[in-house]
Amino acid sequence: MSEINRAAGGIAPAGKALSPEEIRLHYYNTPTEELVRMGGECCRSVHGPDVLLRGLLEYTNYCSSNCLYCGIRHDNSNVQRYRIDEDMLLEAARAGFDRGLRTFVIQGGEDSEYPVDRICRLIERIKEMTRGEAAVTLSCGMRSLDQYRSLKRAGGDRYLLRFETSDPELHRYLRNGSSLEKRLEALEYIREAGFQTGSGFMLGLPGESDETRLNNILLAQQLRLDMVGIGPFIPHPETPLAEASQEDIEMSIRGVALLRLALPEAHIPATTAAGSLVPDGRERMISAGANVLMPNLTPVTFKKDYELYPGKICLDESGIQCISCLSLRVKPLERELSFRRGDAVRLAGSADSPVPGGVR
Ligand code: 5AD
Ligand code: SF4
Ligand code: FES
Repeated sequence: MSEINRAAGGIAPAGKALSPEEIRLHYYNTPTEELVRMGGECCRSVHGPDVLLRGLLEYTNYCSSNCLYCGIRHDNSNVQRYRIDEDMLLEAARAGFDRGLRTFVIQGGEDSEYPVDRICRLIERIKEMTRGEAAVTLSCGMRSLDQYRSLKRAGGDRYLLRFETSDPELHRYLRNGSSLEKRLEALEYIREAGFQTGSGFMLGLPGESDETRLNNILLAQQLRLDMVGIGPFIPHPETPLAEASQEDIEMSIRGVALLRLALPEAHIPATTAAGSLVPDGRERMISAGANVLMPNLTPVTFKKDYELYPGKICLDESGIQCISCLSLRVKPLERELSFRRGDAVRLAGSADSPVPGGVR
């Protein structure tokens, strides 16, 4: 037993969340290798060997916001802007559905040409095309409670809105004046509207301290999130943070392990940003406790223009090709891709049965 496990009162029973104090002790004292082992074990005890798949559709790269870190921020005039029409999105989703995918993530910038009504119709069409079998996750930015309710009524199942950083001052600076308080209020609205709720943060942002990184994990725990996505900040050359330094991937690997121990039931993706920073970034996140992968179904012609950070992987491959690639990548980790919907564990048994005829 490590010193910390002893100090924290022994090894936690499989799948039991660590307390904030235990997380703090591990954050400051436990070597990465041991954290990864603990996170990986915790993940397996709750989620088994399955790695859930989510098909990503980056439907618009127009954005009215100006987050300092983001490559598609409004003021970056070098971006070739696009907006994918509903027919084409539906085609991409259909290809994913035929390959067995049962969750689609609709992600985009804050684009007023894609108002809530239009997104609602898209959700309805995806639900119709998949005979109600597929879950729809939305990642469409900050909205009012009424708008979240409309999106839920249209059939949306889950909503992702990262809080980005738990430091209120840093948050305001990086998000161009928008407050952490408002972000957290939006997350409350998302929950109130009835969505399975996801959030997350970046690691290695300029101005971030050790304490911020720890607080990111504690905030995710406090919010009792169903899904938490984290990844390394990667400076984009066409943003005000172009000259910021690149922190090592290890920070994000430790982040995943601690998150897993803080929220054993959460769905935690091995993110594309991790795989873009280092070739085995996603695999390392899975070893540390991530249980989700997100093949990108965005039509290849548009993928390169959704450049939040440089070096993004899978630009020339279709999402369908990525599924085969991912299946090979998880094998050596003794994990298996799963085509289940993979709803929040707290809803287990509701609509989450294995898909008969789902292709493996
Ligand atoms: N590096 C890494 N992640 C980024 N994101 C935005 N810009 C960057 C960047 N430069 C993340 C944010 C956002 C998500 C969609 O992508 O966390 O919420
Ligand atoms: Fe827009 Fe999201 Fe990028 Fe911020 S992070 S500029 S809201 S796309
Ligand atoms: Fe996309 Fe490997 S996951 S090419």
